[in-house]
Amino acid sequence: MAAVIITGTPGTGKTTVSKIVSKTLKSQLIALNELIIQKHLYNGHDDKKGYKIVDMDALASEINLILKSTDKQLIIEGHLAHDLGATDQVETVIVLRTRPSVLRKRLNKREWSDSKIQENIEAEALDLCTFEAVEIHGDKVHELDTSDLDVDEVTEIIIEILNGDKQLPPGKINFLEELF
Ligand SMILES: Nc1ncnc2c1ncn2[C@@H]1O[C@H](COP(=O)(O)OP(=O)(O)O)[C@@H](O)[C@H]1O
Ligand SMILES: [Mg+2]
Repeated sequence: MAAVIITGTPGTGKTTVSKIVSKTLKSQLIALNELIIQKHLYNGHDDKKGYKIVDMDALASEINLILKSTDKQLIIEGHLAHDLGATDQVETVIVLRTRPSVLRKRLNKREWSDSKIQENIEAEALDLCTFEAVEIHGDKVHELDTSDLDVDEVTEIIIEILNGDKQLPPGKINFLEELF
């Protein structure tokens, strides 16, 4: 069945919004962070950086199994979701974006090291997820700036995109000047 990918830097709202979108559309939600832990799809932990070292091949096979075994539309959310390879089953990729100053406030609430927070804010300012998503999925990618929206507004726009009523081609967001 077809899959929708919701990706973006940590803190951009993927988990919160995907829950509501999947409920509204009666789709099957796959939260990659949970799946990775449940199925032990990692090869250890980078203690210095505070990241799990995810086994991307194992994760991709797991997703393929799920895709084969369901008739439902899948919503796959996670900051690695765009990186599982390009297939025809991927219908739409939505990259959630958040201004670095807003993102910093959200990430400060996590028990993360300063360097991990800074690294993610820089990745956001440099459009890293969008860049990778476009490289892999081309014109299936949409980019949504959530900085001045609440969760319900973000949900509504995502549903409009999935219904084909709205298009948000990437490249219109520029957070670079906020970083320096
Ligand atoms: N559009 C939004 N406006 C305000 N706060 C948001 C929005 N989306 C998410 N949040 C809040 O930001 C935090 C991070 O959201 P989360 O869904 O965990 O992000 P992610 O899964 O991308 O890391 C949560 O506290 C969430 O309530
Ligand atoms: Mg999340």
